[in-house]
Amino acid sequence: MLAAFSDYVVPLQPDADSFKAALSSRGFNPEASFVAVDGGDIIGFWNVATRNTKRYLIGSGTRIGHRGRGLASHLGMAAINAAEDAGAESFWLEVIEGNTGAERLYQKLGFDVTRKLDCYRLHHPSADPSRCELSDFGTVAQAIQRYSTWEPTWQNATETISGLPLTSFLHDKGGAIIGAGGLVHQIAASDPSALADLLAAAATVGSLTLVNVESADSVLCSLLQELGGDRFIVQSEMRLSLPNLS
Ligand SMILES: CC(C)(COP(=O)(O)OP(=O)(O)OC[C@H]1O[C@@H](n2cnc3c(N)ncnc32)[C@H](O)[C@@H]1OP(=O)(O)O)[C@@H](O)C(=O)NCCC(=O)NCCS
Repeated sequence: MLAAFSDYVVPLQPDADSFKAALSSRGFNPEASFVAVDGGDIIGFWNVATRNTKRYLIGSGTRIGHRGRGLASHLGMAAINAAEDAGAESFWLEVIEGNTGAERLYQKLGFDVTRKLDCYRLHHPSADPSRCELSDFGTVAQAIQRYSTWEPTWQNATETISGLPLTSFLHDKGGAIIGAGGLVHQIAASDPSALADLLAAAATVGSLTLVNVESADSVLCSLLQELGGDRFIVQSEMRLSLPNLS
């Protein structure tokens, strides 16, 4: 993985423990995943997660010296065939805009863009906890479900994050934020001022990174831009609907 991602469009060289933790929380399923092997070395991989009738590509990569020979295409086709055989209904992934090799690979395999996603880094100019209170995961997850207008992507889904040690704040006007001082996994509120209060509260723990905010959420995206947030990545979410073979 480290070799295949050594020239990735953003730096991504996790240590073994964080890589294993990310695979595990996302629902990595070895039986749904494929590797290409050459003389005992892994030269390409498709790491796939499974949840209900959905499959999700956690990551795909081919070592630099082995690219352009169809390895990723073959691995992708194997993963898609395995998903169909298992009765899965859809296959999902995200790809960074501008990673043209990967974008073309996924298009060739039949994936279509479903929505655009923005990633922001935010050093909040006026962190302030006063209008929110710390709360437990179950309570904040419920509040977010009530006010959110869009589904989080796989890596931020409630099933993915439910076991993680996360700090969360609740707003008394309705709404919540899960993840403070680091990765913000979910945020939603009854109105824009509550949304602003939640960001200000979460920022008291440290600077914030929001990965995969739906670009069509103009209220949240405008607020992040007004606060000086840096949109450092835009991603495309892609889906392949699978034929029901049963
Ligand atoms: C993207 C990646 C997995 C492709 O692996 P690969 O084994 O070289 O892919 P393939 O040989 O099967 O090529 C598949 C298709 O991808 C596209 N593609 C691959 N590399 C490309 C490049 N450098 N430029 C343009 N298109 C490219 C082509 O459409 C190609 O099909 P074609 O040869 O019929 O035109 C590989 O470049 C990689 O590991 N990149 C770094 C990690 C990464 O970006 N992973 C994806 C994260 S979402």
